[in-house]
Amino acid sequence: MADDEKVLDRRGFFGRALGWLGWGSLCAWAAGSSAALLRFVAPAVRYELPRVFKIGRPDEYKIGEVSTRFKDDYQIFVVRTQQGIYALHAQCTHLGCTTNWFQQDRLIKCPCHGTNFSPEGDVLSGPAPAPLRRAAVSLAPDGRIVVDTSEIENRPGRRESARFLVKV
Ligand code: FES
Repeated sequence: MADDEKVLDRRGFFGRALGWLGWGSLCAWAAGSSAALLRFVAPAVRYELPRVFKIGRPDEYKIGEVSTRFKDDYQIFVVRTQQGIYALHAQCTHLGCTTNWFQQDRLIKCPCHGTNFSPEGDVLSGPAPAPLRRAAVSLAPDGRIVVDTSEIENRPGRRESARFLVKV
Protein backbone atom coordinates (compact mmCIF):
# COMPACT_ATOMS: atom_id res chain seq x y z
CA MET A 1 0.00 0.00 0.00
CA ALA A 2 1.36 3.39 -0.95
CA ASP A 3 1.94 6.07 1.71
CA ASP A 4 -0.83 8.23 0.23
CA GLU A 5 -3.31 5.35 0.50
CA LYS A 6 -2.33 4.71 4.16
CA VAL A 7 -3.00 8.35 5.01
CA LEU A 8 -6.38 8.22 3.26
CA ASP A 9 -7.22 4.96 5.03
CA ARG A 10 -6.39 6.49 8.43
CA ARG A 11 -8.50 9.53 7.60
CA GLY A 12 -11.36 7.24 6.62
CA PHE A 13 -11.09 5.33 9.88
CA PHE A 14 -11.07 8.48 12.03
CA GLY A 15 -13.89 9.96 9.99
CA ARG A 16 -16.03 6.88 10.56
CA ALA A 17 -15.10 6.74 14.28
CA LEU A 18 -16.08 10.39 14.72
CA GLY A 19 -19.32 9.70 12.88
CA TRP A 20 -20.18 6.78 15.21
CA LEU A 21 -19.24 8.86 18.22
CA GLY A 22 -21.53 11.64 17.01
CA TRP A 23 -24.43 9.28 16.43
CA GLY A 24 -23.82 7.61 19.75
CA SER A 25 -23.90 10.94 21.57
CA LEU A 26 -27.05 11.95 19.74
CA CYS A 27 -28.78 8.67 20.67
CA ALA A 28 -27.72 8.99 24.32
CA TRP A 29 -29.02 12.57 24.42
CA ALA A 30 -32.33 11.51 22.81
CA ALA A 31 -32.76 8.62 25.28
CA GLY A 32 -32.01 10.88 28.26
CA SER A 33 -34.40 13.57 27.01
CA SER A 34 -37.17 11.02 26.41
CA ALA A 35 -36.77 9.60 29.92
CA ALA A 36 -36.91 13.10 31.42
CA LEU A 37 -40.00 13.94 29.34
CA LEU A 38 -41.74 10.73 30.40
CA ARG A 39 -40.97 11.44 34.04
CA PHE A 40 -42.41 14.93 33.59
CA VAL A 41 -45.69 13.90 31.93
CA ALA A 42 -46.33 10.70 33.92
CA PRO A 43 -48.48 11.36 37.01
CA ALA A 44 -46.62 11.22 40.30
CA VAL A 45 -48.86 8.57 41.79
CA ARG A 46 -49.30 8.73 45.53
CA TYR A 47 -51.38 5.91 46.81
CA GLU A 48 -53.82 6.88 49.50
CA LEU A 49 -53.40 5.21 52.85
CA PRO A 50 -56.27 3.04 54.08
CA ARG A 51 -58.56 5.06 56.32
CA VAL A 52 -59.90 2.22 58.46
CA PHE A 53 -57.54 -0.36 59.89
CA LYS A 54 -56.87 -2.43 63.00
CA ILE A 55 -53.93 -1.86 65.32
CA GLY A 56 -54.08 -4.88 67.61
CA ARG A 57 -55.44 -5.53 71.09
CA PRO A 58 -55.26 -3.02 73.94
CA ASP A 59 -53.00 -5.27 76.01
CA GLU A 60 -50.33 -4.98 73.32
CA TYR A 61 -49.65 -1.42 74.52
CA LYS A 62 -48.12 -0.48 77.86
CA ILE A 63 -49.28 2.50 79.93
CA GLY A 64 -47.13 5.51 79.03
CA GLU A 65 -46.12 4.05 75.69
CA VAL A 66 -46.07 6.03 72.45
CA SER A 67 -45.89 3.33 69.83
CA THR A 68 -44.49 3.98 66.36
CA ARG A 69 -45.52 0.50 65.16
CA PHE A 70 -48.04 1.86 62.66
CA LYS A 71 -46.34 5.09 61.72
CA ASP A 72 -44.78 3.94 58.45
CA ASP A 73 -47.89 2.14 57.21
CA TYR A 74 -50.64 4.43 58.49
CA GLN A 75 -49.01 7.65 59.72
CA ILE A 76 -50.19 7.28 63.31
CA PHE A 77 -48.71 7.00 66.77
CA VAL A 78 -50.60 4.81 69.21
CA VAL A 79 -50.57 6.30 72.70
CA ARG A 80 -51.65 4.52 75.87
CA THR A 81 -52.31 6.53 79.02
CA GLN A 82 -53.99 5.71 82.33
CA GLN A 83 -57.28 6.75 80.68
CA GLY A 84 -57.04 4.65 77.56
CA ILE A 85 -55.62 4.40 74.05
CA TYR A 86 -55.74 6.94 71.27
CA ALA A 87 -54.34 7.19 67.75
CA LEU A 88 -52.44 10.38 67.08
CA HIS A 89 -52.01 11.43 63.47
CA ALA A 90 -48.32 11.96 62.72
CA GLN A 91 -48.92 14.76 60.22
CA CYS A 92 -47.78 18.15 61.51
CA THR A 93 -50.50 20.80 61.69
CA HIS A 94 -48.14 23.45 60.33
CA LEU A 95 -47.39 22.40 56.74
CA GLY A 96 -48.06 18.69 56.88
CA CYS A 97 -44.64 17.16 57.39
CA THR A 98 -44.47 13.77 59.06
CA THR A 99 -43.40 14.06 62.69
CA ASN A 100 -41.18 11.66 64.63
CA TRP A 101 -41.31 10.32 68.18
CA PHE A 102 -38.21 10.82 70.36
CA GLN A 103 -38.44 8.43 73.27
CA GLN A 104 -35.58 10.00 75.26
CA ASP A 105 -37.14 13.48 75.17
CA ARG A 106 -40.71 12.09 75.23
CA LEU A 107 -41.53 14.52 72.45
CA ILE A 108 -43.00 14.32 68.98
CA LYS A 109 -40.87 16.56 66.80
CA CYS A 110 -41.42 17.92 63.34
CA PRO A 111 -38.28 17.81 61.20
CA CYS A 112 -39.39 20.65 58.91
CA HIS A 113 -39.66 23.75 61.10
CA GLY A 114 -39.02 22.38 64.55
CA THR A 115 -42.41 22.19 66.23
CA ASN A 116 -42.38 20.04 69.35
CA PHE A 117 -45.56 18.27 70.40
CA SER A 118 -46.35 16.50 73.67
CA PRO A 119 -47.57 12.87 73.60
CA GLU A 120 -51.08 14.34 73.95
CA GLY A 121 -50.46 16.15 70.67
CA ASP A 122 -50.28 19.65 72.16
CA VAL A 123 -47.88 22.21 70.69
CA LEU A 124 -45.04 22.89 73.13
CA SER A 125 -42.91 25.07 70.86
CA GLY A 126 -42.60 25.99 67.20
CA PRO A 127 -44.83 27.35 64.48
CA ALA A 128 -47.57 24.69 64.33
CA PRO A 129 -50.89 26.46 64.98
CA ALA A 130 -52.81 23.54 66.46
CA PRO A 131 -52.38 20.23 68.28
CA LEU A 132 -51.87 16.99 66.38
CA ARG A 133 -55.14 15.34 65.39
CA ARG A 134 -56.54 12.19 66.91
CA ALA A 135 -58.31 9.64 64.77
CA ALA A 136 -61.54 7.92 65.76
CA VAL A 137 -61.01 4.62 67.56
CA SER A 138 -63.28 1.78 68.63
CA LEU A 139 -63.09 -1.83 69.74
CA ALA A 140 -64.04 -4.47 67.16
CA PRO A 141 -65.92 -7.63 68.20
CA ASP A 142 -62.64 -9.55 67.93
CA GLY A 143 -61.17 -7.35 70.69
CA ARG A 144 -58.86 -5.42 68.42
CA ILE A 145 -58.75 -1.63 68.14
CA VAL A 146 -60.10 -0.13 64.93
CA VAL A 147 -58.77 3.25 63.80
CA ASP A 148 -60.74 5.42 61.40
CA THR A 149 -58.71 8.39 60.12
CA SER A 150 -61.66 9.81 58.20
CA GLU A 151 -62.84 11.22 61.53
CA ILE A 152 -60.32 13.38 63.37
CA GLU A 153 -60.36 15.75 66.33
CA ASN A 154 -57.76 17.93 68.06
CA ARG A 155 -59.81 20.25 70.22
CA PRO A 156 -59.08 19.69 73.91
CA GLY A 157 -62.21 18.42 75.60
CA ARG A 158 -63.58 16.82 72.44
CA ARG A 159 -60.52 14.77 71.57
CA GLU A 160 -60.86 12.95 74.92
CA SER A 161 -64.41 11.82 74.11
CA ALA A 162 -65.20 8.12 73.75
CA ARG A 163 -65.03 8.43 69.94
CA PHE A 164 -61.32 9.22 70.11
CA LEU A 165 -60.28 7.20 73.14
CA VAL A 166 -60.59 3.48 73.78
CA LYS A 167 -61.02 3.14 77.52
CA VAL A 168 -59.12 0.16 78.91
FE1 FES B 1 -44.06 20.94 61.02
FE2 FES B 1 -43.60 23.23 59.82
S1 FES B 1 -44.39 21.44 58.96
S2 FES B 1 -43.27 22.72 61.87
